[in-house]
Amino acid sequence: MTKKKLKLNFEHSAQNYEKDAPIQRLAASKLCKIAAPFIQEKLSMTPRVLDLGSGTGFIASNLDKNLEIFESDLAFEMLQQNRLQNSTKIQADFENLPFKNNSFDILISSFSLQWLSDFDKNFAQFFALLKPKGILIFCLPTDGSLSELKSANVFNFNPLPKIADLKTSLKKVGFSKISFETEVIKQSFENGVEALKSLKKIGANYSEKNGKIITKSILAQFNNFCLKNFGTRTRKIETSWAVSYFIFSK
Ligand SMILES: C[S@@+](CC[C@H](N)C(=O)[O-])C[C@H]1O[C@@H](n2cnc3c(N)ncnc32)[C@H](O)[C@@H]1O
Repeated sequence: MTKKKLKLNFEHSAQNYEKDAPIQRLAASKLCKIAAPFIQEKLSMTPRVLDLGSGTGFIASNLDKNLEIFESDLAFEMLQQNRLQNSTKIQADFENLPFKNNSFDILISSFSLQWLSDFDKNFAQFFALLKPKGILIFCLPTDGSLSELKSANVFNFNPLPKIADLKTSLKKVGFSKISFETEVIKQSFENGVEALKSLKKIGANYSEKNGKIITKSILAQFNNFCLKNFGTRTRKIETSWAVSYFIFSK
């Protein structure tokens, strides 16, 4: 997906994002809980924190008030929906950030860095932006997410990074591991099409394989496949998000 299209998708989903993103809300809150002891260690010096792909502010709403928080996002509309008063908001591309090296004590991000096009290059940029002993805290959906929907082999989904590749890339640019964990979060839907729609609502898109037109009969077949293979007793379907939480230091 081009960056222009990505930005447009998130601009369109911004208004209802918070109500349509329960998994993202959960992940951001868990990330901040895991990171709290490491952030606490830096509180005495009012650390400067940059949220990469902040969206409407799930991260900042979970952070301590004694931080100097900068929230950055490519989609202006996402920042506009953000009503938090405790941060400076900046429209910026996290692949080309307008800050000097050694500017931040903490870089944090939830459910956004899966959009990076080159992990080595961008982790190196993040490493340079951090002050000595600065920390990079992030969570994202990894390879294996949405395996149910993918197995129908009808739609293309944006590829998600592999945990091993992320770790290799972090190490390569000089980061050291403080903490890592991963979990599978289940989400239930009335049917397969509702699951697809939920992705569209949060700005993530899918397309029909080989550019074919998505007809009603394809959607009906897809729903049957999902119900047969991933249906629960209540005739809903369950999809999985593999979410990984990384805390690495400079
Ligand atoms: C799924 S949302 C997550 C938002 C928020 N962190 C949360 O936890 O709800 C992904 C966000 O990343 C932003 N994003 C994607 N690519 C970006 C880029 N290159 N630079 C800055 N923000 C980007 C999108 O605009 C969107 O707001």
